[in-house]
Amino acid sequence: MTNIRSFRSKPHIFENLKPEVIIESPGRINLIGEHTDYNNGFVMPTAIDKKIILKFQKNHTENFCRIYSETFEKGFEFHLDKELKKASGWEDYILGVVKELLDKGAELSGFDCLIHSQLPVGAGISSSAALECGIASGLNELFELGLKDVEIVKLSQKAENDFVGSNCGIMDQFSSVMSIKGKIIMLDCRSLEAEFIKADFKNCKLLLLNTNVSHNLADSDYNSRRKECEAAVAIIQKEKPDVQSLRDVSFEMLEKFKNKLQGKMYERCLYVLKENERVLKAAKTLKSRNLKDFGKLMYASHEGLQHNYEVSCPELDFLVDYSRDHEFIYGSRMMGGGFGGCTINLIEEDKIDKYVREVTSAYYKKFKIKLDAISVHPDEGTKIFKT
Ligand code: GLA
Repeated sequence: MTNIRSFRSKPHIFENLKPEVIIESPGRINLIGEHTDYNNGFVMPTAIDKKIILKFQKNHTENFCRIYSETFEKGFEFHLDKELKKASGWEDYILGVVKELLDKGAELSGFDCLIHSQLPVGAGISSSAALECGIASGLNELFELGLKDVEIVKLSQKAENDFVGSNCGIMDQFSSVMSIKGKIIMLDCRSLEAEFIKADFKNCKLLLLNTNVSHNLADSDYNSRRKECEAAVAIIQKEKPDVQSLRDVSFEMLEKFKNKLQGKMYERCLYVLKENERVLKAAKTLKSRNLKDFGKLMYASHEGLQHNYEVSCPELDFLVDYSRDHEFIYGSRMMGGGFGGCTINLIEEDKIDKYVREVTSAYYKKFKIKLDAISVHPDEGTKIFKT
């Protein structure tokens, strides 16, 4: 049950909105380091030039809030002084952040917010984190809450974990807020130390291919992968109390515990350990602009995700396999949580158009689904405009 009231037609107030704050909140890509963030490992994401735009104004009521999405052509209202309960869709990312802010003691009052999104939902480019961080940043500015960027990142992640119920790590929120234009973040998810590496791909570009599938077990399977990793850590911890996460587990240690780990725990852990190692290598190869080696690490990452972590799907595997026969594609892999969404491809720029035509037709022949190509550029994190 929820206390929100939904509506379809755009309230008149939004036609004459005089926004005091405008936020551009970007989606993200991740070059390598998948399912490592919640295991305290390494990731290499960045924000992209596709974003959600949110316009805010105070409406001079104490508690009445009104949100309208031009993209979904839907809106909803709620009251800050009534219990905020989970609804079931995009509304939850907003309500979750508002609840987090209120729980932290933030002094909010009534506001209106108009949202326009350029981010496809379910594509694995983190429209959810962009929405959460956009709301958090906008309310932070509108009500002068004084939150630091990293607090916005953490409270947005907490909203997704506690309110929405998806036990995501910190990668998406961190990259949506903290990215620097033209750089890739090498993030240590344990310390939150970030190194910004120049995104120099020489004659190559990053190309996303959206499978346009989103298998519906994605959320529960995501959470169960995380649980498997945590259960493995708990088993190891009994004998090695210093081990706090898979980050503290070496390959040798994992082998010693192999027989004590149940079900698929060993495969999951092995994938995470190897992926962390790959990210460290990938950072080095990107710095030395050795793109061919970088690409090989991307392919290896996909293999691990497909066979050991088991979060891929036939549509993603088809696209990655298809790319292997083309020497002008240096690397390709599924991106994000998995079970659908996009592949990320490192491809020579002048071959993109022809390849997109070819792969789109092959994908359609196989699955009868339209493939979408999205060309992306590493861009800066949250942008704030005040009037
Ligand atoms: C989703 C989550 C992230 C991360 C990726 C997988 O995008 O939100 O925290 O775990 O999946 O790398």
